[in-house]
Amino acid sequence: MIKIAPSILSANFADLGREVQRVSSADWLHVDVMDGMFVSNISIGVPVVKSLRKVTDLFLDVHLMIEKPVRYIDAFADAGADLLSVHLEADMPPGIRAALDAMDRRGIKKGIVLRPITAAEAVLPYIKDVDLILVMTVEPGFGGQKFMADQLPKIAAIRKYIEEYNPSCHLEVDGGVDPVTARQVVEAGADVLVAGSAVYGAADAEAAIRALRGE
Ligand code: DX5
Ligand code: ZN
Repeated sequence: MIKIAPSILSANFADLGREVQRVSSADWLHVDVMDGMFVSNISIGVPVVKSLRKVTDLFLDVHLMIEKPVRYIDAFADAGADLLSVHLEADMPPGIRAALDAMDRRGIKKGIVLRPITAAEAVLPYIKDVDLILVMTVEPGFGGQKFMADQLPKIAAIRKYIEEYNPSCHLEVDGGVDPVTARQVVEAGADVLVAGSAVYGAADAEAAIRALRGE
């Protein structure tokens, strides 16, 4: 079963409560946290996750585009995140390991993320210990970019690793997902689709979610 995770990065932040209600038929809500260091953009942080937690029961999938994310695991867990995903490029391996251990202690789901430049094999040291692997199909930092089809073989390679080492692990894809590219990434093995502009840019967000499901 494919899960759809609308990214609120493309929502109207001045009316976030209403924007969340617009996507109530989604499975997860994807929250993009950016620090202006790991990526050039700055988006939102802990207080917004805390506010979202009060207005939705959707699973909060928080994508941390921040340097040394271990520093913020407790704060986002306190704010009500259900899952945190950390970029493998955002710290040295001991720092990534420490971030995953901190999530374990807090009883929240654990994810790792790969920039387009990072090879599929980079997941191998962590794959048995995580609930989700996120493959970026744009350079992280901004919504509305073009889908990078050259990431499809990487998605397929990671799906094979998941089948072999941790079959219950989710494989999420983020960046340029629309009804056409959604079919390609699902074909390659993805089971969670993030979509920002394809959902929030549509007049009817619920219809856009159905289109991403292939309905
Ligand atoms: C980009 C973010 C994405 C972004 C996707 O760094 O991680 O989640 O919101 O936006 P679209 O779906 O418009 O590419
Ligand atoms: Zn994201």
